[in-house]
Amino acid sequence: MKILVVGGGGREHAIITKIKQNKNVQKIYALPGNGGIARDAECVNIGAKDIDAIVNFAVENAIDYAIVAPDDPLVLGCVDALEAKGISCFGPRANAAIIEGSKVFSKELMKKYGIPTAACEVFDNVDAALAYIETAPIPTVIKADGLALGKGVIIAFTREEAVDAVKSMMCDKAFGKSGERIVVEEFLEGPEVSVLSFTDGKSVVPMISSMDHKRIGDNDTGLNTGGMGTVAPNPYYTEAVANECMERIFLPTVNAMNAEGRSFKGCLYFGLMLTKDGPKVIEYNCRFGDPETQVVLPLLETDLLTVMQAVTEERLGEIEVKFSNKHACCVIMASKGYPESYEKGFEIKIPEEIADNVFVAGGTIKEGKLVTSGGRVLGATAIAETLPEAIKSSYKMVEKISFDNSYYRHDIGARALKAWEVK
Ligand code: AMP
Ligand code: GLY
Repeated sequence: MKILVVGGGGREHAIITKIKQNKNVQKIYALPGNGGIARDAECVNIGAKDIDAIVNFAVENAIDYAIVAPDDPLVLGCVDALEAKGISCFGPRANAAIIEGSKVFSKELMKKYGIPTAACEVFDNVDAALAYIETAPIPTVIKADGLALGKGVIIAFTREEAVDAVKSMMCDKAFGKSGERIVVEEFLEGPEVSVLSFTDGKSVVPMISSMDHKRIGDNDTGLNTGGMGTVAPNPYYTEAVANECMERIFLPTVNAMNAEGRSFKGCLYFGLMLTKDGPKVIEYNCRFGDPETQVVLPLLETDLLTVMQAVTEERLGEIEVKFSNKHACCVIMASKGYPESYEKGFEIKIPEEIADNVFVAGGTIKEGKLVTSGGRVLGATAIAETLPEAIKSSYKMVEKISFDNSYYRHDIGARALKAWEVK
């Protein structure tokens, strides 16, 4: 089989590493891939948002199966366009990807179908939004409606910050069109859990739970990032919580999408907060999470391509999806200065003996060498029998990897460890 993977980050590298294990796979193309992915797939310089070029490439190269990983192409209808040419795909169509593409859509969906989430108000008029802010409970959470590279969420701890956030989104267009409509949301508290799930619109199979670390600094301080590390499973996500989520969130969401005529097929990501009033949805994503994928997929024991094809062919309920009961930890190594400005072009050295568990996000090949080309450069994933061992081993991997101006958090898994020790 010839496989095409759309995307070029650490998540796509983790997906490709798994897909490669299937014996029927002869060739994997990554569009655009990156310098690290080039070790495992043929990278072709076509951007993940260039839907026409992706479709042409897939047709010309007789692709048998396409995996569309990032949010942008999914929301732009990449799966619809590939399917129109008869190419079988993993990923939701545009009418279902809207669950991530529009926060207003997802909030209205949850309201209509009684799925637990933070209370909210939607505004498309700046004066109305500012008037509401004057009396809204503080802290409050302001979200741009559309995709904003994970940056369209501002938690305002004072009324002034809330006013600034509304103005920057609606007047200064800090997130472009994404901020034309905004959601002002109740501030929730509790441990956060990411649950990625496979769904074919009929069944939903949650993957192993995970915990992201979004802030740049140790002890969850500093700016928000795309994610600085992950552990799986998430010790806060007990069996009782999992059962409650299945009954009150996962199945109702899949059923709601069907009832709206927007059947979701692919990976549906539930960003949850375990509040004192029970689990609530913080966000939906229409795709695998990054860097959650880098800890979840290494624990998947069933062949990934087999599961994906079962999703596409709507027979997920007929197969068994097994996860290992081990633990995984992924530490992200970034360029110093990220998520603001940083230098690029430093040579990355990864010892061969750990390379299979290093997922490259921001690396490119220059004069035959792998060099840094992005803010988040790579993730080092270790698997072990226990959480403390997994954390320790991933930091040992990090010590063996080198590039100039590298930065990483030193406390990935520390919070999870506290909950793990209590259990
Ligand atoms: P998102 O970009 O939607 O993943 O949101 C980024 C982060 O903002 C989440 O991981 C949460 O930590 C936080 N967040 C989002 N919505 C809320 C909320 N209603 N209450 C508290 N924190 C939130
Ligand atoms: N790690 C969060 C995300 O993928 O959106």
